[in-house]
Amino acid sequence: MTAPIDATTTSAWAELAQHKVELKPDLRGWFAADAQRAQRFSFDLADLHVDLSKNLIDDDILAALVRLGEQTGVTERFARMLSGVHINTTEDRAVLHTALRRPAGIQPALVVDGQDVDAEVHDVLARMRAFADRVREGSWKGVTGKKVTHVVNIGIGGSDLGPVMVYEALKPYADAGIEARFISNIDPTDLAQTTADLDPATTLFIVASKTFTTLETLTNARLARDWLWQGLQKAGAIDGSDEAKKDAVAHHFVAVSTALEKVAAFGIDTDNAFGFWDWVGGRYSVDSAIGLSLELALGPDAFEELLAGYHAVDLHVASTPLAQNVPMLMGLLNVWYNNFLGAQSHAVLPYAQLLHRFPAYLQQLTMESNGKSVRWDGSPVTTDTGEVFWGEPGTNGQHAFYQLIHQGTRLIPADFIGFANPAYPLQDGDRDVHGLFLANFLAQTKALAFGKTAAEVEAEGTTGPLVAARTFSGNRPTTSIFAPALTPRVLGELIALYEHITFTQGAVWGINSFDQWGVELGKQLALQIAPAIEGDADALAAQDGSTRGLLEYYATHRK
Ligand code: F6P
Repeated sequence: MTAPIDATTTSAWAELAQHKVELKPDLRGWFAADAQRAQRFSFDLADLHVDLSKNLIDDDILAALVRLGEQTGVTERFARMLSGVHINTTEDRAVLHTALRRPAGIQPALVVDGQDVDAEVHDVLARMRAFADRVREGSWKGVTGKKVTHVVNIGIGGSDLGPVMVYEALKPYADAGIEARFISNIDPTDLAQTTADLDPATTLFIVASKTFTTLETLTNARLARDWLWQGLQKAGAIDGSDEAKKDAVAHHFVAVSTALEKVAAFGIDTDNAFGFWDWVGGRYSVDSAIGLSLELALGPDAFEELLAGYHAVDLHVASTPLAQNVPMLMGLLNVWYNNFLGAQSHAVLPYAQLLHRFPAYLQQLTMESNGKSVRWDGSPVTTDTGEVFWGEPGTNGQHAFYQLIHQGTRLIPADFIGFANPAYPLQDGDRDVHGLFLANFLAQTKALAFGKTAAEVEAEGTTGPLVAARTFSGNRPTTSIFAPALTPRVLGELIALYEHITFTQGAVWGINSFDQWGVELGKQLALQIAPAIEGDADALAAQDGSTRGLLEYYATHRK
């Protein structure tokens, strides 16, 4: 195991600390003094245009950040990741989500731990395509001979958030009369509401779970199986025999997992199961078979375009020097805000309604990856790590929380994401509504950067205490990301961009961004508490006072 380099002991860290002391943020002045600022700090990455110029940086700060990346070995760690070194040390695993999107035929083939990774990835992709073709054209039929019209993905975390986010983003590409739905929460409301108007005869369930042990997913899968059997029996489509039930599962359930023996134990034929590998982290898995619901609803071509977008960004990161490496620069910028300027959160604000689940998706990607207090060798971190990611699509956010970003006391760096062409080009009279939408994007980033001085407020006729209330400090940093349109390829590029931003931050901090031990304790305790909920007196007595009190409240109030 390579020992992590302590970023805080590097000369670049000391330089940045000095820059922080000397920093006098002045985006107005910086733009006025440098007509080339926007161009110099803008980058093109595949189809993405990324403008970093409204960030609190100058050439010296950016150069120091690049040196920090160099001195902490970010590029080398990325190369180790790509080649299959077990950089996920706590689980002793390679980290190879980038292999999921390598096109077929690259030489030399990627062989890791004796496994021909390329061959296995493309074998599963071919099986997914063949299955998707059958379902989409209707030759795969439900137990009563009807075509599938609804695909319900049952999964949680990485086995849910990615598919939901991508499906919502690319819904305009759904072209086969198949609607995808998603059940994740163990709150029975989720399954009850999602299935309420579905016909079991035309519904296909995908049980998506890397481990196939997740309580929520397996519980929901059993509930869905009961719903299927009961619905089919009620309709007279099957009798109650074990044989008929088995047949119904064979026609209406498929699975995606790394644990195919557990899939079989659940009763799903492994011929109808799609595998992936322990070197794909859940939050990095939407581009694996976990994306099966997308292949079915959006089509294999759209899915493969998504993968091509990811790959274009992977290539950029692997082959571009740090000073022009967009995801790495953005990751280093986040380090600047987190560790030197005191930011505790980061807003992601898509100006695209279709990206309404993108911030939620990024919350798992970034916070499950970088919410760590120890480094990859088990030693304590030497500085703050993962910030809180959050956001909502514009313009809804403008009427909710932007007030705090504009005039609050906290520094909140924000990424604005917009597209030149809308999915639905509607006109309001002779006005292009999408143009008006983008005018809001530009207005917000401008207001955040340049603010409004007291003199400007007064010049509009405001006097007294209202002047201060109407003044905007400006110098609130934003990154603007534009793309031509929200296509599958562009979405793949965006996801890969954030994957590698996350990677870069983790590498600087010396943490393992690919494990998630922090979610385990709650899972264990839920299993210990469950008997107390069912009335087990010993389990109740074993609880702490607060938990016992809440359990007693539950016991008293449940009907
Ligand atoms: O929340 C923890 C976690 O392990 C995530 O990392 C993962 O995406 C999710 O649970 C679901 O896990 P699985 O796909 O194994 O059901």
